Amino acid sequence: MKPPKRLQSLIEEGLIDSVERQLMSGKEATVYVVRHGDETLCAKVYKEATERSFRQAVDYTENRKVKNTRTARAMAKGSRFGRQAQEATWRSAEVDALYRLAAAGVRVPRPHNFCDGVLLMELVVGDDGNAAPRLNDLLFTPEQARAHHETLLKEVVRMLCAGVVHGDLSEFNILLGEHGPVIIDLPQAVDAAGNNHASRMLMRDVENLRGFFGRFAPELLQTDFGGEIWDLYERGALHPETSLSGRFEREAGAVDLEGVMLEIVDARAEEAARQQRLQAG
Ligand SMILES: Nc1ncnc2c1ncn2[C@@H]1O[C@H](COP(=O)(O)OP(=O)(O)OP(=O)(O)O)[C@@H](O)[C@H]1O
Ligand SMILES: [Mg+2]
Repeated sequence: MKPPKRLQSLIEEGLIDSVERQLMSGKEATVYVVRHGDETLCAKVYKEATERSFRQAVDYTENRKVKNTRTARAMAKGSRFGRQAQEATWRSAEVDALYRLAAAGVRVPRPHNFCDGVLLMELVVGDDGNAAPRLNDLLFTPEQARAHHETLLKEVVRMLCAGVVHGDLSEFNILLGEHGPVIIDLPQAVDAAGNNHASRMLMRDVENLRGFFGRFAPELLQTDFGGEIWDLYERGALHPETSLSGRFEREAGAVDLEGVMLEIVDARAEEAARQQRLQAG
C-alpha cells in the first residue's frame, strides 16, 4: 500500500522498506504490518493527543519519572512546552515498558525501534503465521482457560517483580501467539512502587483475567489472586517463582489507620460544633 505520511520518515531513514497493510485502528494508535529486509514487523503509530480518547487519567501519569525538573515543572503547569513533554513521555512510556519487561523475561513483542512517535516491534503471529488473534476473538475449553489463566498470572507476577503494573490488561490486550499468550498495549503501564494507584490497577488487571477465563472455567471466579499477589509484593515476598494459592484472607483484625484518623478528625469537629452551639445558646 502507499505508505501513510507518518511512516514516510521511517522509510527515508531506512528503518522500514515498505508498508504492507493496516492491521487495526484503535483508540490510541493505528497499527501497520511493515517490511524491513526479509523481516515482517509491526508499526504502531500513536495518534496525536487531540484525536486520542482520554485514557491518560491521573492514575497513569502520577509519578511518571521525569528527570529534568524544568520539564517536570512545565508539565505540572500545563504550558505548551509542558504538554509536548507530557505527550513525548506518554509515547515513550510504552517502548520503555517493553524493553524493561522483555529484559525481565515477560512475553511481550520484542521492541525494535522508536522513532517520530512510531513504535517498531515484532509482529506477533499465531499458529497460521498471520497476525495473532486477541483472546477476545477466541473460545477456550475449561482446560485451556485454566492453563492460560495460570500462565498469565505468572506473567503479571513477573511484571510486578520488574516493578511494572500493566494497568489495562484484558482479553483485548493479550494476543494468542504461536507459543502462547503475548501481552501488548502498554503506554499506561505504571511504576509499581511509585504510584498510589498501582495496587488498585493490579487488582483490576487480575480481576479482568479472572472474569474472562471464568467464562470458560467458572471455578476461577472463586479465586482471589490479586489480593494474594499484592500482599506478597508489599511484604517483599513476591518472586517470579512464588507459588500462589488463589486464596487470600483479608485480615479481620487489621487496623485501618487512615480510617481511624478520619474518625478522630470527624469526632473532634462534631464536638467543636457542639461546644459552639452551647456557647451561642
Ligand atoms: N506486536 C503486535 N503484533 C501483532 N498484532 C498487534 C501488535 N500490536 C498490536 N497489534 C494489533 O493491533 C491492535 C491494537 O493495538 P494496541 O492495543 O496496542 O493499540 P490501541 O490503540 O490501544 O488499541 P485499542 O484501542 O484497540 O486497545 C491489537 O488489538 C492487535 O490486534
Ligand atoms: Mg489495545
